[in-house]
Amino acid sequence: MKIGFFQFSPFFGKPQKNLKIIEENIDNVGNIELLVFPELALTGYTFEDSEEAYSLSEEVGGELTGKLINIARKKDIKMAVGFLEREGKHLYNSSILLGKDGIIGVYRKVHLFREEKAVFKAGNTGFPVFDIGKAKVGLLVCFDWIFPEAARTLALKGADIILHSANLVLPFYQKAAVTRAIENKVFIVLANRTGSEERFGTRNVFTGRSEIVDPEGKIILEAGEEDEGIFAVDINPEEARNKNITELNNIFEDRKPELYENWG
Ligand code: ACM
Repeated sequence: MKIGFFQFSPFFGKPQKNLKIIEENIDNVGNIELLVFPELALTGYTFEDSEEAYSLSEEVGGELTGKLINIARKKDIKMAVGFLEREGKHLYNSSILLGKDGIIGVYRKVHLFREEKAVFKAGNTGFPVFDIGKAKVGLLVCFDWIFPEAARTLALKGADIILHSANLVLPFYQKAAVTRAIENKVFIVLANRTGSEERFGTRNVFTGRSEIVDPEGKIILEAGEEDEGIFAVDINPEEARNKNITELNNIFEDRKPELYENWG
């Protein structure tokens, strides 16, 4: 199964322009089956306030979703795209999974980072897992990484691959993803963005270095800090289904949830 990420620097507030960039890049690649995009890949990240974010948001199933589905249809590719989702008066920092037949699922970011708390509502979808045929996949968005419970929940629900859309500004997750992959024995596709945004006194510098990590914690594909483009690699999702770490240890069967205190 050929999977990849698109690392780039979205133009702030220009969804149509970003869609065109996405379309042009996909037009120029071969037969990738699953592609992950950064967080808020169509709009950019650093909103002045919730009004500005609202003006750039769209409901799932709207025009932007339709255009993404058309792009997916041209190459029969499944895509997880960071998306500024509106539902009524609420905004969510979401990832939408879609393919040639339409929307497969949506995940709304649970763990909001810094100023996001003033713009978005914390996600209410839980951590869904979607069967896309060759693999089961779960979605995460950026700061979810620092809560190991998020990746663990997806792994316990059977996810083979975690599709992690990000706008990382802290320097840790490219390393921590290796641990998340090992401790859950899953593949992780980290699609991070490049560039920076400086708006209304807030400066965000994004750290690039998107990567794909295998269930043994090996980084099998890695972009540079400022590289832009689509990167892809062949994987076998079945490698994520054997949860034995030694002949006598299985990372799920050996868990002792009854002894893990203060989780609720
Ligand atoms: C982040 O959650 N965008 C850092």
